[in-house]
Order: sequence, then structure tokens, then C-alpha cells
Amino acid sequence: MAEARDPEGVTNERSTDSELFSSLFGGAPTHVARAPGRVNLMGEHIDYCDLAVLPMATQHEAQLQFRARDDGLVRITNQDPEFDPVEFELGPAIAPGSRGDWRNYLQAPANELARQFAIWRGLDGVLSSDIPVAAGLSSSTALVNAVGLALAEANEVLLAPAQFAELMAEAEHYTGTRGGGMDQAIGFGARAGHAACIAFSPLRMRHVAVPEDWCFVVADTGVRAEKSGRAQGPYNQRRSECEEALDVVVQFALQHDRLPTRPRGYPDLLRMLGAAEVISLAEEALKARLLKRFRHVVTEADRVDQAVDCLLSADLVGFGTLMDASHGSLYADYQVSSRELDELVAIAREGGGAGARLTGAGFGGCIVTLADRGTVGAVLETLAEQYFEPRGMGDGIDDRLFVAVPSAGASVGIL
Ligand code: GLA
Repeated sequence: MAEARDPEGVTNERSTDSELFSSLFGGAPTHVARAPGRVNLMGEHIDYCDLAVLPMATQHEAQLQFRARDDGLVRITNQDPEFDPVEFELGPAIAPGSRGDWRNYLQAPANELARQFAIWRGLDGVLSSDIPVAAGLSSSTALVNAVGLALAEANEVLLAPAQFAELMAEAEHYTGTRGGGMDQAIGFGARAGHAACIAFSPLRMRHVAVPEDWCFVVADTGVRAEKSGRAQGPYNQRRSECEEALDVVVQFALQHDRLPTRPRGYPDLLRMLGAAEVISLAEEALKARLLKRFRHVVTEADRVDQAVDCLLSADLVGFGTLMDASHGSLYADYQVSSRELDELVAIAREGGGAGARLTGAGFGGCIVTLADRGTVGAVLETLAEQYFEPRGMGDGIDDRLFVAVPSAGASVGIL
């Protein structure tokens, strides 16, 4: 039995997923699909520019206990009563719910798998998740990945993890957010004890061991940043700005004979000229806002390369310095930080963190800070004392403040 709180704050016994399943659907679930959340360590808002990123999966996960059906109906109930039960018919053109409706994250993989593989077998399922919601830890992509995996299993669709990740990244655009492919890639491809350097188009992944005594502490501002709600407009706008900035820079460079041929995207441009030359071109070609966005993308890509080297050589101080620089760039040039995120970052550093930055899309959500085993206690304590306790957020603090454990990717199994 797990404990849950009802809206009045009274603690109740909650039925397990299989008890809830049998009370709703009769009988027992046959399978479970699991999909982890993630914390991004370096490379924010550059996956959609096809530039490499460095996330790791966390110990938190979405779990779907399910049983396949002999028709196309999909019925899913969430253990969390904040989310209404969802029911829909499989098909290649499932009508989306209204913007922000969580059902869209369940329909997204169904719609894509039906389009690509004409799947026809639905399922009954009970979903539970301990990934903090809308906190920049990939709670929504974990839903997409878990439901996608369950439907693939029910319909005997076999895909390699990289193919599955690419398919689910495409699928999630159904929700209206023009996200990149980081969350799906780490969600399927992660290895326990490791972070992964992920490159795109085509998807490639290099696992990098996290040194034994490194601790990545995650702290949640408590300010929700729903990618399908409040954060969607600003997120999509950043992506369009990056596309526009690239077009202007390339056009300028071609006109001034600074490029031999038209590059296929950011990675190609950086390969042709190198980061320093690309930034100096941008300073000539771009003004104000677009220059800031472009500069963040190029410098952040460089920080990812350096961060991988720091991980490989267990250079904690170097990695922390890169985290600080990344946050500075996300604050000043990319403008996706918030007062609460900046405050948490400052407290984490004061508490002895080697470096700290916002993680995920920003606009709220979480920060990540790096400490070693000797200092992690002080970092946790300082964050608790200076951010969470004064705000009356001391109860249930373990959900908001924890050391992330580098964990394995999604899986499906028989119960
Ligand atoms: C969200 C998106 C990712 C990525 C991050 C920002 O999590 O789903 O694709 O763009 O924001 O780095």
C-alpha cells in the first residue's frame, strides 16, 4: 500500500496499481512498462538545433501496468487524482484534447504508432509516476515513452531503442510543443551509473560513467512550468528564433564569401568555421535578441564538449565552472530563468556546490548542482534551510530536493 493525500490534506491508504486495475477493469494486468525521468547536466535548449546534449536518467519513473485488448480501445487511469481517466480509440488521426490536457501525452504515441504501423490493439492500464510534474525532469515524455512502449508490446511492434526514441520525439509534437529529441533519447537509451552524450540526426549516444563520488543534487523551485501550458509559447518561440538566427547568419556569410557552401544546420556550420569565427560572424549579422539566442546556442554546444571531457577526467571543479557559465547564458542570453531558479542557484553555490544551473526548459522547475560526497550534506542542508523551510515547503521535501541516481532507460516486462 502506498500513501496518498486527498485534497483536504488527510493522509489515506492508496490501493496499489494492480488493486486499482482489478477494481476498474477486472482481473490483473499482464505487463508493466517503465520509463524514467531525466536531469540534463549540460546542453540546454540546443537539442532542437541538432547539437549534442549531456543528460542522465533518474531513479524516478512513470509506470504503466497494462493488459492488451482485442479491440482498439485505450483506457488509462492515473493513480494521481489530479489527472482524469482517459479513454480513446486507436487510429492514425486521433483528435487532440484541449491544450494542456494530459490526455494528449497518452494519445501522442498512439497516434504516431497507428500512423506508422497501423497498430489496432488497445489496452487497459493504470499509470503511476513519482517524477515531479512540470518541473523540468521530463515527467511528460516519460508518459509518452511508457504508453508508446506498452502499445508497441501489445501490437508486437519491435523497434531498436534509437528508432523508438526518434519516433516518440516526433510523436510528442502532437501536443503542440516543438521539442527536441533529448528526453526521448535518454529515456530509452540510458545506462545505470552513466550520463550520455547524445548527438542527433541521426541519433547517436555515447555513455559516460558518472564518477563514484559525484552527486548531482536536484532542487525544485515549486513553480510549475507546463510545456503544454504556460511554457509552450516561450519554448516554441525560442526554437523559431534559433532557426531564424541561423538563416540570417548563413545568408550573411554566403553573401560575404565567408562560407564555401551552405551548411545543413548548426553542427555543419560549426564544423566548417569553428565556434569563435561563427560568433564573430553573428556579431556582424545579427542584432539584439537573435544575437543573444544564437550566442547561447553556440557557447552551450562548446560547454557540452568540455563537460564530457570533465566527466571523463573526473574534473569536478571544471564541470562546476561550466554549469555556472551555462546558467549565466540561460539567464542573460536565452532568458529562460526565473527569480526562484536564480535564487536556488545562488544558495546551492553558497552551500558549497561546485556549480549550479537550471535544468530542463526553465521558466520554473528545477536546478541541478554538483557536489562531492564530502560536501553534498552541506549543500542539501543549505538549500533546505534557505529556500524550502522559509517557504513552508519543508514537508515532503524529499520530492523536491534529492540526489539524482544515474539510472537505466525504459523497459517493458511481464508481471
Ligand atoms: C524540454 C524539451 C527538450 C529540450 C529541453 C531544453 O525538456 O523536451 O527537447 O529542448 O526542454 O533543453
